[in-house]
Amino acid sequence: MAFERFGTMDVNKAGHLEIGGVDALRLVEEYGTPLYVYDVALIRERARGFKKTFEELGVVAQVAYASKAFSSVAIYELMHEEGLSLDVVSGGELYTAIKANFPKERIHFHGNNKTVEEIEMAIDYGIGCMVVDNYYEIELLQKILKKKKAKMSVLVRVTPGIEAHTHDYILTGQDDSKFGFGLTNGQAEEAIRRILAASDEFDLIGLHCHIGSQIFETTGFIMAAHRIMEKLVEWHKTLAFDSKVLNLGGGFGVRYTAEDKPLEPAEYVKEIIHEVKKMAKDNQLSVPEIWIEPGRSLVGEAGTTLYKIGSRKEVPGVRDYVAVDGGMSDNIRPALYEAHYEAVLASSPLDKAEETVAIAGKCCESGDMLIWDLPLPKSNAGDVLAVFCTGAYGYSMASNYNRIPRPPVVFVENGKSKLVVQRETYENLVQNDLHL
Ligand SMILES: Cc1ncc(COP(=O)(O)O)c(C=O)c1O
Repeated sequence: MAFERFGTMDVNKAGHLEIGGVDALRLVEEYGTPLYVYDVALIRERARGFKKTFEELGVVAQVAYASKAFSSVAIYELMHEEGLSLDVVSGGELYTAIKANFPKERIHFHGNNKTVEEIEMAIDYGIGCMVVDNYYEIELLQKILKKKKAKMSVLVRVTPGIEAHTHDYILTGQDDSKFGFGLTNGQAEEAIRRILAASDEFDLIGLHCHIGSQIFETTGFIMAAHRIMEKLVEWHKTLAFDSKVLNLGGGFGVRYTAEDKPLEPAEYVKEIIHEVKKMAKDNQLSVPEIWIEPGRSLVGEAGTTLYKIGSRKEVPGVRDYVAVDGGMSDNIRPALYEAHYEAVLASSPLDKAEETVAIAGKCCESGDMLIWDLPLPKSNAGDVLAVFCTGAYGYSMASNYNRIPRPPVVFVENGKSKLVVQRETYENLVQNDLHL
């Protein structure tokens, strides 16, 4: 396997992996393992790339970071520095945004079952908009807004009947999803009617959809934009509804392994804009603001996890298991989705592979495997393994399974490192436990 560099990754004079100008082995000395390392320059580059494409094509836009990919105070501060908006899906993510002083008007709240407490928190903080997901929420939100004598901007989440993953996109006629209102079965129209009828509480600013994840082609986005724009033409006439905003969600793919061939993020945006502008022009509608919500494509490739290698078990004629000091507790994706990753030895990323090994985690589960077939130079206990592209849905999905403390997070940029999430301690693990 050729060593594929992400962002500022390099091999320094000592032959070690370097990220953000910092030697990975030095990071391990300072912060220990397992360790999540984020290449800040790459996150900035991605954020600027999305924004620039909209600016160059003259479209009013919001690029909202889908923060479920990696939620922490520091990443919210970084996204704010880059002028992004923020998508949150829970009271916890909103609380983190509040702690990060994220501008409230640029926070969008998602979710298919927001609680009363979460809705009240969002209203009290004065967030930018609520993405309304179902009829129950319309009723509940209206009741709470009425009680608080408040009014809120809302987007209606629709399911356009397209589901996209990597190279596949599926037309789902029956809109079988727990999220949103069916676009073609009349649900979305009914939701819009109800919201427009409650204009004391709601300012309906537009529509939202999210068609899937790890998408490598633009077809699904174009189809979704087309279908929604068709409906907007209809509702302009029948409901006098003009959508100020069209939010097409996230899902832009990243490179986990050599098999993944994502497009440049700007490519997705260009094609979406082209379709929306064309449909608007052909139907004499004004071009709506276009919002997107990338998560993985902003932070995925920027993240690397550093582990220490420990035990080795040989199963003659089958495979060699090489175990690291983390696993499904810091990266559930291989166990959950059969996700694939690539990795190198941080001390010698350019060395030729001499064997193929299986990288096992340390959790008490046979399924706790990080990589099944990794070509690697001969490794020893104590060597540092760097697993690439772990920046999205790694830390945010981490758990304390087996009472393993969650690893710390370090940002690296311009030769400097900064601890942004501390390593959990054993004391943290028992702090909510009570005695009999
Ligand atoms: C509504 C919504 N927006 C955005 C995203 C971000 O997707 P990704 O991280 O693939 O860009 C998700 C992911 O699940 C989502 O559900």
